[in-house]
Amino acid sequence: MDSARISALLHPFLERTLPEVQLQQISTYIDLLLRWNARINLTAIRDPEEIILRHFGESLFAASQLLDPQSSVSSASSVVGSPSPVPLASPVVHSPCAVADLGSGAGFPGLPFKLWAPQISLTLIESNHKKATFLREVVRSLALTNVNIKNTRAESITETFDLVTLRAVENFALILPTAAALVATGGAEPRVVQLAGSDSQALAEAARINVDLGAQIIDLNMGCPAKKVCGKLCGSALLQNESLVAQILEAVVNAVSVPVTLKIRTGWDRNNRNGVRIAQLAQASGIAALAVHGRTRADFYAGEAEYETIRNIKSVVSIPVFANGDIKTSQKAREVLDFTGADGVMLGRASHGAPWIFRSVNTYLDAGITAPPLSRAKVRDIILGHLGSLYAFYGEDIGVRIARKHLGWYCEQLLTDSAQTRRSLMAAATTSVQFALVNDRLEDWVAEANVAATDAAWPECLTA
Ligand SMILES: Cc1cc2nc3c(=O)[nH]c(=O)nc-3n(C[C@H](O)[C@H](O)[C@H](O)COP(=O)(O)O)c2cc1C
Repeated sequence: MDSARISALLHPFLERTLPEVQLQQISTYIDLLLRWNARINLTAIRDPEEIILRHFGESLFAASQLLDPQSSVSSASSVVGSPSPVPLASPVVHSPCAVADLGSGAGFPGLPFKLWAPQISLTLIESNHKKATFLREVVRSLALTNVNIKNTRAESITETFDLVTLRAVENFALILPTAAALVATGGAEPRVVQLAGSDSQALAEAARINVDLGAQIIDLNMGCPAKKVCGKLCGSALLQNESLVAQILEAVVNAVSVPVTLKIRTGWDRNNRNGVRIAQLAQASGIAALAVHGRTRADFYAGEAEYETIRNIKSVVSIPVFANGDIKTSQKAREVLDFTGADGVMLGRASHGAPWIFRSVNTYLDAGITAPPLSRAKVRDIILGHLGSLYAFYGEDIGVRIARKHLGWYCEQLLTDSAQTRRSLMAAATTSVQFALVNDRLEDWVAEANVAATDAAWPECLTA
């Protein structure tokens, strides 16, 4: 097919015309695909114009939204003849450089992406040997560089990519965790790393290392009551030793250029509520913000949190103070803020199995209204997205274990047959089996009758 016709067909999808060389590549691709379809007796797509629309139209439209074609021009021209060439793979904003196409089949949408933005490094993952052979033929005939064809299953790939595309896969739900695990996670920001310890120099060194690795805030833990931590004089045990606290805070603040924040309890025990003095030390040491759990170390998690000490702390320091402890509803958050004058609240256990509580509390604090209940479909999407993120961040082995803890909490929050579902989910040994089981169970849950009636009875933590 001639270039003018290809250009005309692609016109509705693209803001710019593709260069002649790329139009030629499309033409070659169509010839190869038609031969391939004839060879394997695939009759579904025999019309070249349909191939243009199906394989290139939508893909190029998506690529034009995600990838910056200009970067290819500047990179390429810098490489030719420039004394200090720009690396071909240099990433630009909104222009992911390492793209993986999963279950590539005939190579789309990965190959069209490559034609739009030749600077990307493209990995085509195709487990079927014959299809992978065809892809090699296409890549060779189109003289494409920086394209890697992996004739294997996606699960065996260990590297990560900026963008993963998949299309025409047989079971989307099953492949999704694998796809998510292939995406390099930039993660949410700011990146906070919490440190616990009692050796000021070791903590300062740990802070430096973490900042070098990308931490944007260092948080010091002087709130943990666990014996295994406090036995070594760290966590909230440090509150007994104010001069050591000051030494640690100063060492860490001076070691790094990013903000250092601190988490404390109100004191060692009810007779030694020295939270106010610790807060003053913190401010004097350059701590940027303070979170206070309204219990002493001796309280562990017993009794109820008190907010009097937090109010006293807030009244003597000017750094931001966050009130924490037993805040389970939006109304409680409002009351604690009003009582303490704190700059914010911190929620812990109320978010277990209910991450949407943060939006719910924010809505209430910002607008004074109770957010409408979440639909079950939305809850399902949040949970599946959470699983995908866990797998992507922790990888296969740790991912499946960390996910179990969260799934246990989700079961408790949402299901009437919590124990039974929990048992079946805990048995899953791999992320893909775990994900498929959760997906199936949530599908049923979404489809259950009388959803509206059940929703109305949901606790506040299920609103957003
Ligand atoms: C299972 C669990 C793990 C925790 N891990 C940490 C931790 O690593 N660092 C920290 O500062 N606080 C940790 N906390 C304490 C919480 O941040 C929070 O101070 C405490 O749970 C009280 O708040 P809540 O009543 O909203 O849960 C943990 C609490 C729980 C229950």
